[in-house]
Amino acid sequence: MCGIVGYFGPQNPKEVIFNGLRALEYRGYDSAGVAILHQGEFKRVRAEGKLDQLGRRLESESFDGHLGIGHTRWATHGLPIERNAHPHCVGGVSIVHNGIIENHAALRADLKAQGVECSSDTDSELVAHLISQEISGGRNLLQAVLAVLPRLEGAYSILAVSKDQPNEMVAFKFGPPLIVGVSAEEVVVASDIQAIVPHTRQVIFLEDQEVAHVQGTQVTLLNHQGQALDKKPTLVDWSQEKAEKQGYPHFMLKEIFEQPRAVAQALAPHLCLESHQVQLDCELEESFLKDIERVFIVGCGTSFYAGLAGEYLIETWARVPVEVEIASEFRYRQPVLPPQSLVVVISQSGETADTLAALRLVKEQGVQVLSICNVPNSSIDREAQAHLYMNAGVEIGVASTKAFVSTLAVLNLLALALAKAKDRLSGPREAELVQSLLALPSHMETVLAYEKFFAEAAESLKAYRGFLYMGRGIHYPIALEGALKLKELAYMHAEGYAAGEMKHGPLALIDSHMAIVMLAPKDELYEKTLSNLEEAKARGGQIISIGTGEDERLKSLSLHYLALPQTEGLLMPLLEVIPLQLLAYHLADSLGHDVDQPRNLAKSVTVE
Ligand code: F6R
Repeated sequence: MCGIVGYFGPQNPKEVIFNGLRALEYRGYDSAGVAILHQGEFKRVRAEGKLDQLGRRLESESFDGHLGIGHTRWATHGLPIERNAHPHCVGGVSIVHNGIIENHAALRADLKAQGVECSSDTDSELVAHLISQEISGGRNLLQAVLAVLPRLEGAYSILAVSKDQPNEMVAFKFGPPLIVGVSAEEVVVASDIQAIVPHTRQVIFLEDQEVAHVQGTQVTLLNHQGQALDKKPTLVDWSQEKAEKQGYPHFMLKEIFEQPRAVAQALAPHLCLESHQVQLDCELEESFLKDIERVFIVGCGTSFYAGLAGEYLIETWARVPVEVEIASEFRYRQPVLPPQSLVVVISQSGETADTLAALRLVKEQGVQVLSICNVPNSSIDREAQAHLYMNAGVEIGVASTKAFVSTLAVLNLLALALAKAKDRLSGPREAELVQSLLALPSHMETVLAYEKFFAEAAESLKAYRGFLYMGRGIHYPIALEGALKLKELAYMHAEGYAAGEMKHGPLALIDSHMAIVMLAPKDELYEKTLSNLEEAKARGGQIISIGTGEDERLKSLSLHYLALPQTEGLLMPLLEVIPLQLLAYHLADSLGHDVDQPRNLAKSVTVE
């Protein structure tokens, strides 16, 4: 989603802001711009497309001021063209905006009635007009912002500057994240910690309806009525894993290869290596876990699919009923949450608007929320009452990979902790499962060694009209995740299905132009899965199968067969998702698509 960077300090603002925007690039955007003080005015440079375009335009520009703002825009209102790119400048005011102003139509009509002409199709420009009008009426920047705030509806974060106050910035938020980094020499305001940590680790996370007033290196926090708040910066422990590809052609491939480490890091805080026991390091007491009668898991996209796998894990091991729901549905359907419930919200970014809204709804009902996030101090992490971490390290590729396997690892631990609390797990079985969990990273390395297989297979797979991903049991959510990866990266039609559903519709799709990706590890449903494959093959379907060990039957039915190492049945998803990620990656790459930043998608979906 859109990215905001603002800078006051002794360094060259052009460099700092541009580098900051680079650090946010992974979030997805389609135009970018900066407005930097030069000879007492804000000089604006904007460009459609990627930051390289903006970079070329900035090459010949110089600025003598020490303050500026920049933005990467992910189009919501108005096409992704230069005219709509931020910053929006009106009079001496410049603003950048993330989110949506929902009452934009009424505001636009009001302004039009006053004879105001807009130069873009965006909702954001309207805010610049409103602030500018207040300043023309005699207010300073802070007073103008405070006067405009009550007129805005929606979810937004905004950073505003005015040429009349050349050392000041005013940041305010109601929705998408906004963070102020402070040090003795400089202040960086950004929508993502990645743009701040190269400068300082002392940060203030703005909460909704808070306003930050930057005057030189002094930052004052106010509520939206303008009353000062006593809020101190916190020291962040988010090690800035260098956004470098380290020899890989894409971040996504690097992140796929980091998965063994991600899983080891996700497990480490919660396993006792001496006793081979699960010791869940989170705020939930064993006595609380013991009394839980129902678990709800809520998330979006890949996080939702991880939740679906979590349902199989928790129900199998702890025998606690689980409901898994897409956050955008959950938040609007008035869910019934019985008193002894635990709601688990899953979000890599910790900023997904629907998941955050679901969390707030649950808290209002007095039910305990446990978050599973990758980004510490993100909104969801801050607002949840209990916390587990993916510990996957920074994920830059828009398509989630290592965060997914880390989440699966954490959900395994939660399921086992619940099973223990409910006396459903014997000591020897626990030790066996812990050993299997600890062995996962090395099995994952084995699977990654097949990378070339997919690089070669990709070429022949380009010709298919569509892809049907199928699996049974816990492999079904992994089929859904595989199909999602192919859709978002290769822009090819792919569907995930429970293999048992094949006869209820999708069989009609199958002919020689349809590729079937079947997850068929040797488990109690293996024979049934094989029958599904026979049926697909009889109708001309071209089969890519993923199974366990040497499997001649599966091989004979398949165009391509990939053998995974055998592990505990419910842990197989952590291995079988890797070939699906690699398949999508190589297919997309061979089609010439931008694998790290697929079209129309954003890493952090901070608006509905
Ligand atoms: C798919 C993908 C998205 C996210 C979804 C939720 O590869 O990345 O489907 O999983 O937008 O994001 P988080 O987990 O940040 O809440």
